[in-house]
Amino acid sequence: MRAVTWHGRHDVRVDTVADPEIVNPRDAIIKITSTAICGSDLHLYDGYIPGMRAGDILGHENMGEVVEVGPKSNLKKGQKVVIPFTISCGDCFFCKKQQYSACDNSNPAETSDASEILMGRPMGAAFGYAHLTGGYAGGQAEYLRVPYSDVGPLVIPDGLEDDKVLFLSDILPTGWMAAENADIEDGDTVAVWGCGPVGLFAIQSAFILGAHRVIAIDHYPTRLTLAKQMGADILDYNEVDVRAALTEMTGGIGPDAVIDCVGMESHGIAIDNIMDTVKAHAFLATERPHALRQAILACRKGGRVSIPGVYGGFADKFPLGQMMEKGLTVKQGQTHVQKYTKKLLDMILENELDTTFLISHHASLEDAPEMYKHWHDDQNEYTKIVLKPALAKGEVETLKEFAHEPA
Ligand SMILES: NC(=O)c1ccc[n+]([C@@H]2O[C@H](COP(=O)([O-])OP(=O)(O)OC[C@H]3O[C@@H](n4cnc5c(N)ncnc54)[C@H](O)[C@@H]3O)[C@@H](O)[C@H]2O)c1
Ligand SMILES: [Zn+2]
Ligand SMILES: [Zn+2]
Repeated sequence: MRAVTWHGRHDVRVDTVADPEIVNPRDAIIKITSTAICGSDLHLYDGYIPGMRAGDILGHENMGEVVEVGPKSNLKKGQKVVIPFTISCGDCFFCKKQQYSACDNSNPAETSDASEILMGRPMGAAFGYAHLTGGYAGGQAEYLRVPYSDVGPLVIPDGLEDDKVLFLSDILPTGWMAAENADIEDGDTVAVWGCGPVGLFAIQSAFILGAHRVIAIDHYPTRLTLAKQMGADILDYNEVDVRAALTEMTGGIGPDAVIDCVGMESHGIAIDNIMDTVKAHAFLATERPHALRQAILACRKGGRVSIPGVYGGFADKFPLGQMMEKGLTVKQGQTHVQKYTKKLLDMILENELDTTFLISHHASLEDAPEMYKHWHDDQNEYTKIVLKPALAKGEVETLKEFAHEPA
């Protein structure tokens, strides 16, 4: 089959690889119909996540049609399914607590041992996301093997187009959990750093969960415009002093909750970020947590900090004393996707949630290398890319032509 593969920093190719096969009785094989590129894939593309090997198949936001089932899968051939990016057994201590991304069984011993050295405890597994998380092949390919297919996959009712449900695999539950982790109370003001797909879904979820006001921060006009269309007030961090603006907008006290939807590759001209960038380029640090530092300093005393943004290791100059003195509560983590999929699917079916507004491009698998480059270099015009194996090479569908004037 054809598959999108990682070969090193900024080197993504399309290779012909072996078709996946049923390995365990609970496996299923799906024929991919849609698979998205995520901000998390950028961290792999930029070479910041350890444990990738040349030839690894990328892709953790996947859906498709069931074409083969193992004897213990409860799926049926022909069903349309969305696959959570987290691979979870459903039976261990953590899965029973619905902490699916912490599953203790899905990451095989040889790779989970390495993750235990780095993280202190073994990590759960994920599709297409490096060998520390199991080294499972991703779904930016024609076919995908789905382990524990009786636990993760969400069967989609007939007649729903892929774009309406694909994001149940990751970014929709991630935005939801980010807002849930902010412990929003009615009337709260919530500030969200980053208006990529995760930030936009966090904004949407924050309003649904009772935020009175959401303030969104980024610098790309198109992404800020999407945030504004969802009802957020917006701040361009290149135009204003973000903390001063947030203080003024909140009667002098700061937002009740702050959500970091930027993660380890923060942009922006600031002294801490320049130092982080130099260190990251010299491989002396993995993190550039400028947005998170700003969020912690901006948050009101006694407020909440939610961090869906991905970080890879130890962070420098972390404002620990500030968190302590202000009495902040912090929650973060890889999303427990399976915990949220059914509820969010119901909300989509009831038209309470729209998931399509952020998709800017459809493209074929063959065009993935070019799409990765755009996703990295042209974030203003490329707000979410969905790869469709059924499209032919060169058949790129532009769903949104963005005006270039400032938001
Ligand atoms: N926790 C999880 O399970 C999970 C799941 C999916 C994605 N993620 C992570 O969430 C983060 C966002 O994902 P995405 O797909 O939206 O990525 P993205 O790259 O599309 O969006 C990130 C946005 O942050 C903005 N940004 C950069 N520096 C900023 C700053 N200093 N202040 C404000 N905004 C800034 C960028 O301009 C960009 O629009 C990534 O770190 C990703 O890995 C986590
Ligand atoms: Zn993702
Ligand atoms: Zn488990």
